[in-house]
Amino acid sequence: MAHRGASEDVPEHTLAAYRKAIEDGADALECDVRLTADGELVCVHDRRVNRTSNGRGAVSSLELADLAALDFGSWKGRAGDLEAPERYDPGERSRVLTLTRLLELVADTDRRVELAIETKHPSRWAGQVEERLLEVLRRFGLDRPGPDGRPSPVRVMSFSSRSLRRVRAGAPDLPTVFLMQYVLPRHRDGRMPAGVRIAGPAMRIVRANPGYVARLHRSGHQVHAWTVDRPEDVDLCVRLGVDAIITNRPREVLSQLGR
Ligand code: G3P
Ligand code: CA
Repeated sequence: MAHRGASEDVPEHTLAAYRKAIEDGADALECDVRLTADGELVCVHDRRVNRTSNGRGAVSSLELADLAALDFGSWKGRAGDLEAPERYDPGERSRVLTLTRLLELVADTDRRVELAIETKHPSRWAGQVEERLLEVLRRFGLDRPGPDGRPSPVRVMSFSSRSLRRVRAGAPDLPTVFLMQYVLPRHRDGRMPAGVRIAGPAMRIVRANPGYVARLHRSGHQVHAWTVDRPEDVDLCVRLGVDAIITNRPREVLSQLGR
């Protein structure tokens, strides 16, 4: 799974980063979503736009039109960028990305590409992030299995179990991923919040407690580890049977896996 797109090579969360991840062969795309002041879901990681754009301020206090006027690409510079950056429309490499546009990209791709959508700071919005997310997913028919009976390619991730509960209340078929920065005592035996099918431990947790993956599996959960960029971490995940690797370097990880 490409974390924020192919974000080692291309500015994170831009359309170009996701296009590159798809070209690189990623099975899935990870993205963070936040609500703008006028209720649009945009793919931005930080609470504020300061790090990844030439603007300042919280996403939640800016309207989509304000964000659209900012440059989300130049901060990364060209060093370490694509071998052929001219392949991308400069706008695709610098414009703020809405969730809707990302879903259109996936819909236009001629192979199945899955999505791992993370709700950011959902508590601030008391349900509005999830409500809007479900609305957008419904519009694309992604909140339920497809007409052919195949499961939706979407899973929703969060550090907030309440956010995941809200998502399941509106879309009971969507798998949810409970992200963990630390393992709280109540999760040490491999149990997750009720209804959660997938555990999302930080790679640091997997490294420090390799037996934890088996414990999560024994309690019936899949394991998606993040952010797995070092070859030795990829090896460890493979040895432990981790179900999905979330990485900033999809091309390198796939080639290490012989794909
Ligand atoms: O994929 C999970 C991971 O993205 C969570 O951490 O800070 O990169 O959103 P963060
Ligand atoms: Ca994330």
